Amino acid sequence: MYRLPVGLKLSDRARDFVDPTYHVGTAMSSFMIFVFLPHTRNRIKNNMEYQIINGKILKKADALIPINDLGMLRGYGVFDYFRVLDGKPVFLAEHIERLFHSLDVLDIELDFERHHIKDMVLKLVEKNNVKDAGFRIVVTGGFAEDGYNPDDQPNLFMMMHSLPTYDPEDYEKGVKLISTAYSRDIPSVKTIIYVQVIHFAKKMKAEGAIEVLYHWKENMTECSRSNIFFVDHNKRIVTPSHGMLKGITRLNTIKIAERMGMEVDLRKVHMDEIDSMEEAFITSSTKGIMPVVQIDDTIIGDGVPGEITEQLMAAFADEIQEYLAIR
Ligand SMILES: Cc1ncc(COP(=O)(O)O)c(C=O)c1O
Repeated sequence: MYRLPVGLKLSDRARDFVDPTYHVGTAMSSFMIFVFLPHTRNRIKNNMEYQIINGKILKKADALIPINDLGMLRGYGVFDYFRVLDGKPVFLAEHIERLFHSLDVLDIELDFERHHIKDMVLKLVEKNNVKDAGFRIVVTGGFAEDGYNPDDQPNLFMMMHSLPTYDPEDYEKGVKLISTAYSRDIPSVKTIIYVQVIHFAKKMKAEGAIEVLYHWKENMTECSRSNIFFVDHNKRIVTPSHGMLKGITRLNTIKIAERMGMEVDLRKVHMDEIDSMEEAFITSSTKGIMPVVQIDDTIIGDGVPGEITEQLMAAFADEIQEYLAIR
């Protein structure tokens, strides 16, 4: 069974990343975890040949770990996910920062520094030799012989996927959300637990919804894999201030809106307010800004993407182009 050498120190594993001759062990009786779960509308294939386990670049077929990993057994782990466009990881620094926030909150002490993570990401992008992809970094609590108490050090995995593609109609005509009362365990942390939404996949498909909107005590928080925004009758941008992941796209959207002179209201948003909102949209690294025209049975505004939403979509697309232009 592949085990990390006992007593391996922080600097050893970090060094391993720069020393390709270091041998981490052989995978036997192992089980590959964290397969990518398909989007309800877009089944995507993981067709990138190389992945990383604890700093070591491995062919996908060899990127195996034992099943006594705490992510596998207890869901004790965090991840981050971003796009690679034209060979450049988009908003990488922000995603690494959020990964370290997630690790801090869960008290997982990673033996790699931020700059090691950045180097690994860039190396894997180069090795897989693809221009456009989704990039996933996962850190679990590590192995646990007793299935509960971490034995040694966290495990770090990196993998790339084909980018999910969305129907252009989703952007032109807007999408539907369905809602449910639910709160993720530790909302500010991007944990690997997505049980609720995977369980909801059939219902979403049946109802033609692209996302589930979560609310807790009638205050909405976020969607299962995106953040929620509204435009109210005063043309103010409204988004929940608590109980959600601080999405990188959300942060950029707020910045862009303020730069465009819009008023942004971060506050509690009650489910009863949906009725009075003029526009709605969701934000995420894969979807960008996507207009929402229906939540459960309520049609938002005129039932078509709103003017302000479209202005923000265009400004966000420009922002990405500018980011990619600076190399
Ligand atoms: C629960 C949750 N909220 C919000 C987001 C949006 O975050 P980002 O814009 O960083 O992709 C995600 C992204 O996957 C998410 O999983």
